[in-house]
Amino acid sequence: MTTELHAETLLEEDRRHVVHPQHNPTDHQNPVLFVKGKGSILTDIQGREYIDGLSCLWNVNIGHGRTELAEVAAEQMSRLAFVTSYVGATNEPAIELASKLVQIAPSNMSAVYFTTGGAEANESAFKTARHYWKIQGKPEKVKFISRVHGYHGVTMAAGSATGMAAFHKMYAPLVPNFIQVPPPHPYRWADYAKSNGDAGAEAAAALEQAIVREGPKTVAAVIAEPVQGAGGVIVPAPGYIQRLREICDRHEVLFIADEIITGFGRTGKWFGLEHWNVKPDIMSFAKGVTSAYLPLGGIMLSDRVHQTLLDAPADLKFTHAATYSGHPTCCAVGIRNIEIIEREGLVDRAAVSGRRLLAGLETLRRHEAVGDVRGLGMMCGVELVEDRETRAPAIGLGNKVAALARERGLFTRNRGGAKGDFPIGDTICIAPPLTSSDEEIDRLVAILDESIGAASA
Ligand SMILES: Cc1ncc(COP(=O)(O)O)c(C=O)c1O
Repeated sequence: MTTELHAETLLEEDRRHVVHPQHNPTDHQNPVLFVKGKGSILTDIQGREYIDGLSCLWNVNIGHGRTELAEVAAEQMSRLAFVTSYVGATNEPAIELASKLVQIAPSNMSAVYFTTGGAEANESAFKTARHYWKIQGKPEKVKFISRVHGYHGVTMAAGSATGMAAFHKMYAPLVPNFIQVPPPHPYRWADYAKSNGDAGAEAAAALEQAIVREGPKTVAAVIAEPVQGAGGVIVPAPGYIQRLREICDRHEVLFIADEIITGFGRTGKWFGLEHWNVKPDIMSFAKGVTSAYLPLGGIMLSDRVHQTLLDAPADLKFTHAATYSGHPTCCAVGIRNIEIIEREGLVDRAAVSGRRLLAGLETLRRHEAVGDVRGLGMMCGVELVEDRETRAPAIGLGNKVAALARERGLFTRNRGGAKGDFPIGDTICIAPPLTSSDEEIDRLVAILDESIGAASA
């Protein structure tokens, strides 16, 4: 069978039997069938190569093809495939990884509960926050506040915190007690709010007003990504994150930092919040913890949240659980992944390469269609507009650019805007592996340059 025929047969089976995330047959007419990866380069079944412009889903931080991780996984599986982590049992990799995570995390972090992915981590964060307040004798603190354009996963509760209408439309009604406030975007927010010039203060004020309106006695936590990712790579306005922390403290509300994209070096620090010297009460992580070699996520608990859990009387104990919490093979891979990040200095490298990437992307502003370029470390976004004057978002242009980029050897995703969506429109998301070479970064920018030019021609 020729490669073409083999590929077509497989894709036929795929169309027949696989339901994809965000499934839609029209969007899946011409999928890429990837077969291998090395570093920042992905190869499809026909042998075509692509720069992995988004580290797949913002997660392959150390790049593809690390046989070292395959060996660690094989060794662990051969020794002990699985064991329950339910109370009364444990395993070496889970203990070692939890200790390591506490060591690299903000200094107030004390313990880890493991999950298998991001949404499950946030579900765990919500439940832990409610548990915390119940133990504190404040059972009425049950509400969660998130921001428009935030992405926290799409299970029922995490999806109710996710601030994008597209993910709600077909699944409403949402879980009650989830409230959304405006995003922390410096430029767009300024437009939207007729800013007095301090967008961070304005966005924070909107958050505080929501807490006051809802009644601080009823609010359990605020959840926020340090840099909003899937919502269009939105870097918070100066001062916003510090204010968010102060507001939470003032109203006795927990701060859940969703570090699922921003963790493990992505922004040029181990965790995104370090840019602002702010510490959360609960921190969700996933993706980069294993660089996607195996599914793993979790939450880290601050001393005070952890202590409450330890002090809980038996009839109020933590009954949250999942079969694969603390999976030994996933944890073993997580440990080695962190060792590689440390050994190769990838956190600092992401800071340096990120500056090169952002500077390169800034040059794309010469295209009329580029309305904004933003980013932090190896996490950037290029926003496309219909009209630079009015800043009207371009709808559909991003998909066109992404398709043209794919033809030219760059694979990435467009954050699709929708008419009537809160200001941000189509945004090409760029977050290559932290190991990407200067040449690869420059090539990525050049391909995007050509693709935006071709799409707007
Ligand atoms: C910030 C953030 N939180 C949560 C999630 C959900 O993670 P998962 O898809 O593993 O459920 C994502 C996924 O992209 C994310 O970017």
